[in-house]
Amino acid sequence: MTVRILGIETSCDETAAAVVEQGVMILSNVVASQSDLHAQYGGVFPEMASRSHIETIHSVIASALAQAHVSLDDLTAVAVTRGPGLAGSLLVGLNMAKGLALARGLPLIGINHLEGHIYSLWLSDVAHEVEFPLLALIVSGGHTELILVKRHLQYQRLGGTVDDAAGEAFDKVGRLLGLPYPGGPRVEEAARGGNPEAFDFPRAWMDDSWDFSFSGLKTAVMRAVKQRFPEWDTGRDTTSVDLPVADLAASFQAAIIEVLTEKSVQAAEKHKVKAVLISGGVSANQALCTAISGRAGDMAVYYPPKQLCTDNAAMIAAAGYQHYQAGQRDGWDLDARPTWPLL
Ligand code: KG4
Ligand code: ZN
Repeated sequence: MTVRILGIETSCDETAAAVVEQGVMILSNVVASQSDLHAQYGGVFPEMASRSHIETIHSVIASALAQAHVSLDDLTAVAVTRGPGLAGSLLVGLNMAKGLALARGLPLIGINHLEGHIYSLWLSDVAHEVEFPLLALIVSGGHTELILVKRHLQYQRLGGTVDDAAGEAFDKVGRLLGLPYPGGPRVEEAARGGNPEAFDFPRAWMDDSWDFSFSGLKTAVMRAVKQRFPEWDTGRDTTSVDLPVADLAASFQAAIIEVLTEKSVQAAEKHKVKAVLISGGVSANQALCTAISGRAGDMAVYYPPKQLCTDNAAMIAAAGYQHYQAGQRDGWDLDARPTWPLL
């Protein structure tokens, strides 16, 4: 029997639904981003995010079914992100998933969002060549995690950020430099024209652990900005100030990439993995992927296409497929877990 799963994802500011067959074939992958809505606040405004999910989720699911040319009767199960994420946002997706599953007598499967990021790899065109064990670096606006994937659904968390997530650091530095939200892509763009050695920003190596820390780096960038522009304050217009934005962006990006690259490759070597997977929104950063690929030697380095690395529901359906096969069936009391570690 073909297993066809409807995935639903509403953990942050993307309302997403997708239909995936056999855990690998995307029939549809619809994402409605709220980033324009949150741009004016320089970050995600939680209550507005939940309200926007409520307004959009029905049409996003309808589009996902229509684009996949299936009806609810053609589905095998509904997989939904249970956490981690914003509580109010998660509840919108969860309740929608429950309603659909209850009405159609379909199994309900709650999924960890981080596991979804790992399973984005099985939706890419290298899926057939993936071998275990695998080291996953998940870098997004909410997470920076190093996870050893021993085999399907078997993980060991090696480390993660103790303060800001990598994407959060990009976004905060972007804001500091007067670039629009989300800062990550803008910082990368600005960095292309800058000198990565113009500023000697700190690298927090967190010796003897696989953890990361980026708040000191962010503070160092702020100090460098304040040296030129003492009146700097969050939200100030920096466009009329003579800030060396390209050099600051390039030096910041070089520091964060060096730490992510060294730690990932060292962890991969220590655990003798076959490949490294980079996933999450920050993996859209070409300089990061190039650095890890260059440093990894013979080890395979995978970074799925951008639309699968940023938040989407196809990855939730792909993870849902593995859990469905493993027999997971959740009850109608399934609750959101805003701070749900993968292990
Ligand atoms: O995975 P994602 O879409 O959502 C979360 O789960 O957070 O990741 C969004 C994050 C944002 O912080 C954004 O600035 C960052 O990914 N990002 C980037 C780039 N594109 C997106 N960071 C650095 N360079 C990029 N090119
Ligand atoms: Zn994510």
